[in-house]
Amino acid sequence: NTGALWGGRFADGPAAAMAALSKSTHFDWVLAPYDIAASKAHARVLNGAGLLTDDDLATMHEGLDRLAADVASGAFVAAETDEDVHGALERGLIDRVGPEVGGRLRAGRSRNDQVATLFRMWLRDGLRRVGSEVLDLAQALVGQAAGNPGVVMPGKTHLQAAQPVLLGHTLLAHAQPLLRDVARIVDADRRLAVSPYGSGALAGSSLGLDPAAIAADLGFDSAADNSIDATSSRDFAAEGAFVLAMIGVDLSRLGEDVILWSTPEFGYVTLADAWSTGSSIMPQKKNPDVAELARGKAGRLIGNLSGLMATLKAQPLAYNRDLQEDKEPVFDSVAQLELLLPAMTGLVATLEFHPERMAELAPAGFTLATDIAEWLVRQGIPFRIAHEVAGACVRAAEERGTGLAELSDEEFTAIHPALTPQVREVLTVSGSIESRNALGGTASGQVQRQIEVAEATISRL
Ligand code: ARG
Repeated sequence: NTGALWGGRFADGPAAAMAALSKSTHFDWVLAPYDIAASKAHARVLNGAGLLTDDDLATMHEGLDRLAADVASGAFVAAETDEDVHGALERGLIDRVGPEVGGRLRAGRSRNDQVATLFRMWLRDGLRRVGSEVLDLAQALVGQAAGNPGVVMPGKTHLQAAQPVLLGHTLLAHAQPLLRDVARIVDADRRLAVSPYGSGALAGSSLGLDPAAIAADLGFDSAADNSIDATSSRDFAAEGAFVLAMIGVDLSRLGEDVILWSTPEFGYVTLADAWSTGSSIMPQKKNPDVAELARGKAGRLIGNLSGLMATLKAQPLAYNRDLQEDKEPVFDSVAQLELLLPAMTGLVATLEFHPERMAELAPAGFTLATDIAEWLVRQGIPFRIAHEVAGACVRAAEERGTGLAELSDEEFTAIHPALTPQVREVLTVSGSIESRNALGGTASGQVQRQIEVAEATISRL
């Protein structure tokens, strides 16, 4: 017997390369505190079923507490011969309380129901940490929106000049997806809160152990309905990986805008020194590395999701060792976002916007042409014609090399008799913005309303 959890029927221990391939302690060690908490709950259930005396339960709990402290301090670590965290912790328990008591803990459970439960516990905590960091970033965006009232900027589609909008409206357009991501975490947690513990290897419990008692003890909402499903499905992990990848995508979209805005060609914003980097050769450089790493890490998070999905695809029921590959991508996605999110929050909170530059560019590229067309519609002109007429104004201004507002009264009426000098009321950036006052529009009242709704959502989530 090699000391592994399954020595009985083997005359020989595993070959070195077999053991190396099989080993997971270098990444599943983060499950140790959850493993020990679940073992304490399992011991209580064994005691409740009459399979562990009160004295043995007390010894077991005391040993598990000492083991937890030794794991936390680093005094207990994985040995070369440990296959995974579960085996290592059983070894640690037996070292502390002896084989007579320590050897009773494993009754009625398998590493298959254990690992599925512990992974869910870890992920619930991981997603909660990420969610709270995402809310901090959303709050920073809302704070910048509230701190820059009335600041206008060019709105773009296809990266081409489209219509003027408020800066706050744009910043909130980045906050909204992040708030939905947090809502996704809250929703995913309802499915994560189902405990596989007590499913055994696949077929369920025979020793009179109550899965619902363990589930409640470990903070789950309920125990799983089907032990085969509970030990073999990892859609909970894929769903977590998706939400994490989606957060990455949303951060990369925000990052891309910050990268563009901070170029001299745009000149909308200056990045704080603390959240940018320099060049080892070009002394003038100030680079948006935080935003670029957001863009880069999004690719990695998408890779973690697709890798996990590929691992899960076409696995037959029930547990297969393929499933040992489920944890690293999810652990990595959480770790990357825990690095990235505080930096993104710092970057956003310290952005210094340049309102004059944005105001100067807001009407450039004839972005008020839509306002001329809609003004004509309000004078009773069909939109088809109004669109043509506004287009003719653009052509005339382009030929003269001026903006739309610089066309003379005579030039306007020559283009169409309905274009009286009153059209000038919509030929300002602020007139255009304030006219878009329907729900969700860019008018300042609507943006103020959005700020209030976003703040209420942040405090609710
Ligand atoms: N370490 C494994 C995992 O992460 C759990 C062990 C299950 N091993 C087994 N032979 N059934 O999935």
